[in-house]
Amino acid sequence: KIIVLDYGSQYNQLITRRIRDFGVYSELLSHKITAAEIKKINPKGIIFSGGPDSVYADGAFSVDPEIFNLGIPILGICYGMQLMAYKLPGGVVENAHNSEYGHADIEITDDSAVMFKDLPTKQYVWMSHGDLVRQVPDGFKTVATSPNCPITSMADDERKFYGIQFHAEVQNTEYGSDILKHFAFDVCDAEANWSMDDFIEMQIEHIREVVGDKKVLLGLSGGVDSSVVGVLLHKAIGTQLTSIFVDHGLLRKNEAEQVMASLSGKFGLNIIQVNAQKRFLDKLTGVSEPEQKRKIIGNEFIQVFNDEAQKLEGIDFLAQGTLYTDVIESGTDTAQTIKSHHNVGGLPEDMHFQLIEPLRTLFKDEARELGEKLGMPHDLVWRQPFPGPGLGIRVIGEITPEKLTIVRDSDAILREEIKKAGLDETIWQYFTVLPGIRSVGVMGDGRTYDYTVGIRAVTSIDGMTADFARIPWGVLQDISVRIVNEVDHVNRIVYDVTSKPPSTIEWE
Ligand code: XMP
Repeated sequence: KIIVLDYGSQYNQLITRRIRDFGVYSELLSHKITAAEIKKINPKGIIFSGGPDSVYADGAFSVDPEIFNLGIPILGICYGMQLMAYKLPGGVVENAHNSEYGHADIEITDDSAVMFKDLPTKQYVWMSHGDLVRQVPDGFKTVATSPNCPITSMADDERKFYGIQFHAEVQNTEYGSDILKHFAFDVCDAEANWSMDDFIEMQIEHIREVVGDKKVLLGLSGGVDSSVVGVLLHKAIGTQLTSIFVDHGLLRKNEAEQVMASLSGKFGLNIIQVNAQKRFLDKLTGVSEPEQKRKIIGNEFIQVFNDEAQKLEGIDFLAQGTLYTDVIESGTDTAQTIKSHHNVGGLPEDMHFQLIEPLRTLFKDEARELGEKLGMPHDLVWRQPFPGPGLGIRVIGEITPEKLTIVRDSDAILREEIKKAGLDETIWQYFTVLPGIRSVGVMGDGRTYDYTVGIRAVTSIDGMTADFARIPWGVLQDISVRIVNEVDHVNRIVYDVTSKPPSTIEWE
């Protein structure tokens, strides 16, 4: 495997992702990791990621200098390269006169440069930096240059240390994938042997080892992720798994029935259904701040588990469908918190369980591939994602039963129409939101003063970035007419035409 140390760049997950796509397992780890810990992991290579700081900034993220003595190849990207130059003797980093952001043309100045093997001498890359390396450390040579950044890439073939000032992981770097491939295969000698089948075997073995003869409780949310975890755990430990399906009253229309029919009926999971609608709604009354709502729902979820687990006796583990994106968006040591995700943020301090999160290192599409490999039906696995806090974050502001009904019913209509139009496989996620504003309309002969429903539909690969879906006008019209006619207290429909970034997919 190749590990990536996280220095806070927004592109970090992409590095991991690219490397996995080559068939080499890769993980993003905190920059605080020690050389001793890395030695235990025994990776084939280490990548220092980019990051927003200057190495000279107060509290700038650093590195355990012993890492340079492990004999493991290292690639520094952007901040990572500057950090190498700063930490290794002889290197000099300084503030560039003009910070550089975007397209840059570079020239490879050393024919033997392994990172640029068989690639054209002139190519374009994506730059994003304020500082730059002014002098390479002892033992390094400059292998690529550009007008604004004389030392664009540096190499020390003896120690197998490399640096690139640009971001090879983004699409806007012409040969970025090739450059990372050269590092993985030519420098690190990694083998392309990581596949989903290996992952399943590895996880099953790992789960059996950790769990032993103890019992595991799983929180089924109705979404894809926890369903996949359920089927995986069932395969690993069979009847040692008890699942609890909490109906928190924030589910989509008919969702509870469908989940039970599939997982309990077809896959034979032992599922206890808890009707906790009132409990959640009581706790949420009067609360309108999004982060607070998320925390309350997350906490209450765990509380319901605690209560159920006590009835069950002898449960030691709690399994969750946490994904890699959840972990990182909730903030690793470096990344700024964007939203506190349900699966991570809501855990109380005094939690009585140990956590099992078998999908923690997977991206969404990898989790789906895993589900299919486990024999789950295509339709179920490729169902659109649904957030843990459910409709609770689609009623903007305070949640009331009336508002929930509006979102639930309008969402069901939207889903029906999208499916009817054959768009359900191409649009990644689509749902309605209730912003809570009311506006004036006219229906029949009368004036109305009713709610506006927003439609959100996006295309995406992993939810990290997204583009609003171009739904044909005719389909939007059908959806609009049906919602206004069939859902009480709605007199206006709007379509959200923002991408992520700058928006997020959910409105809260
Ligand atoms: P955002 O709104 O952050 O959403 O752009 C990205 C993806 O994550 C889903 N999402 C969640 N999933 N727990 C989850 O399991 C959560 O708390 C949560 N919040 C957002 C969202 O639906 C989208 O697919």
